[in-house]
Parts: sequence; C-alpha cells; structure tokens
Amino acid sequence: MLVTTKEMFEKSMKEGFAIGAFNINNLEIMQGIVDAAAECKSPVILQASSSAIKYARVNYLMKMIEAATEQYPEIPIVMHLDHGPDFETAKMCIDNGFTSVMIDGSKYDFEENVRLTKQVVDYAHSKGVVVEAELGKLAGIEDDVNVEASDAMYTDPAQAEEFVKRTGCDSLAIAIGTSHGAYKFKGEAKLRFDILKQIKERIPNTPIVLHGASTVIPELVQMCNKYGGDIPGAKGVPDEILHEASVSGVSKINVDTDLRLAMTAAIRKTFVEEPNAFDPRKYLGNARELIKETVKHKMTDVFNSCNKA
Ligand code: G3H
Ligand code: 13P
Ligand code: ZN
Repeated sequence: MLVTTKEMFEKSMKEGFAIGAFNINNLEIMQGIVDAAAECKSPVILQASSSAIKYARVNYLMKMIEAATEQYPEIPIVMHLDHGPDFETAKMCIDNGFTSVMIDGSKYDFEENVRLTKQVVDYAHSKGVVVEAELGKLAGIEDDVNVEASDAMYTDPAQAEEFVKRTGCDSLAIAIGTSHGAYKFKGEAKLRFDILKQIKERIPNTPIVLHGASTVIPELVQMCNKYGGDIPGAKGVPDEILHEASVSGVSKINVDTDLRLAMTAAIRKTFVEEPNAFDPRKYLGNARELIKETVKHKMTDVFNSCNKA
C-alpha cells in the first residue's frame, strides 16, 4: 500500500523503532528492498534523489512503485524525494504521485531555509503530501573543519524548535555527526546523542531523520576489495550506534552507500567466479539477492522495524 510517513512515524515514536529509507535507482535495487520488507513485515521508505530520478526517469520509477504496492498490499510503502534541491523538483515529484518529499535547504542561511521549506510545505500539504526538511550541515571527513567550525555544523536545538514551528514541516533531518558516502570517520565513529536528546526535548512530536547513516558494512567492503575493487579505509556508522539511535527517537534512517556496496560486491564476485557468465540476469539477480539480505539484516537486527507493518 502506498502511504505517507504520517502513521508509520507516529508508531515509530510510540514504540521506539526506526524505519529504513533506502535509495533506489533501478529495478533490482527496488525489488531487493521491497522483498526484504515483505519478508520482515516491515514498513519501508523508498527514496530517489533528483539525480536518481534523472537516471531512472520519473514515470518508470512510479510504475515500478505501483507494481511493488500491488505485489505487497500488506506492506506500507512510501515514495519519497531525497534531498529535493528546489521548489520545482519537489512540485514535480508531488504532481507525479510521490507521497513524501524532502526539501533540503541546509545549504542556505536559516531565513532562506525557512522560506523555501514553508513554500514546499504549503504546496505539499494542499495535496496531502508530507515534507522532510533539514537543519544543520552534514560534514564529510574530507571537509577538514576545526572543532569550533564542526560544532557550528551540528543542528542547534533551539533553532530546530523555531524552524519546525515556522515551517510546519512534518519531519526534520538533523546533523549529529553523520555524513554521506563511504568515508564518514577518520578515527572512532561517534554521534552526538546529547544533541539528539536536547532536540527531542524541544520537539518531541516531530519525527527525526538521520542522513548519511550507512554502516559501510565491513564484509561488503572486503568482498568488493577481494574481487578486484579498491575501496581502502572506508568507515561508516556501526550497527550498535544505529540501534541506539533507533530506540532514542530517530524515526527514519537513510541508507544508500550500503546498497551500492552490496550491488557492487555481488556483481564483482560473479564476474570473478564465473568469467563465462554474461547473462545480466545472473549478476543482477545475485545483486538483488545480496541487497535483500542487507536490508533484512538492518530491519531485523538494527532498526527493530520487523512486524511493524
Ligand atoms: O544523499 C545522497 C544519496 O546517497 C543519493 O545520492 O544524488 O548520487 O543519487 P545521488
Ligand atoms: P549514506 O551515504 O550513508 O548511505 O547516506 C544516504 C543518505 O543520507 C541519503 O539521503
Ligand atoms: Zn542524505
């Protein structure tokens, strides 16, 4: 069933679990995710970035979602725009049947972020669509910021309260130490749970979103490297920390990098072990299977979202 995040977030906040939001850009990735959700009886958020939409084409994406909801009517499925860059992209997604959109105004100053987010919220709500906004900046280790500057990048709890009040956004992505991609930490992985707690105290009814939350699963990185890849020193957010986030008020956990690793690892392994194989269904089928296992692991052992559909 295609739904908004409203009810699943209410349940997640009441019962203390998180919903996985997985990036899609082709058939096998999407099928791996929804097959896992169906086996786990878990709600699931499918999300596409604007570059993924450009790649896969919006009408193809929506037809695939329609097929998934027909196959699994018992599973609540959300179709979400990830990192919407502007009003026009958010509107295009809403007009094409997305049930949720993110407007990412985090690159702007506070007032412009409020203005842009409010503009999207007004349009989305008039169409029954929900909106995720972002406040604070996700740094990458390559950004090399000093301690004072990195403090300024975390979400400010008082600003978060004002932002939600003024924009009417339905959920809020916060910066507490995660970053996008496969290189999240130089040293020990650490998130600012103290800031999360302060934010939850100020906006207890607003679902919180964690971006850049892939584990960068070591077994998948090793598998990529073993079969000819070269991804040295990759490091993500360990499962234990994500599990703590899931039970501490984070309602949505974004995962893209782990799916990319699973897909690449499975394809590399097939090519090395079966050099004669050239039927795409062979290596893409193996990729779909490993994506499914990866998503099932997260739903079962990390997010606690199984049997919450
Ligand atoms: O947060 C970004 C997501 O991983 C999507 O990345 O814009 O390359 O599709 P993308
Ligand atoms: P990862 O790069 O950690 O998978 O984060 C994905 C994300 O935040 C998508 O919006
Ligand atoms: Zn993100």
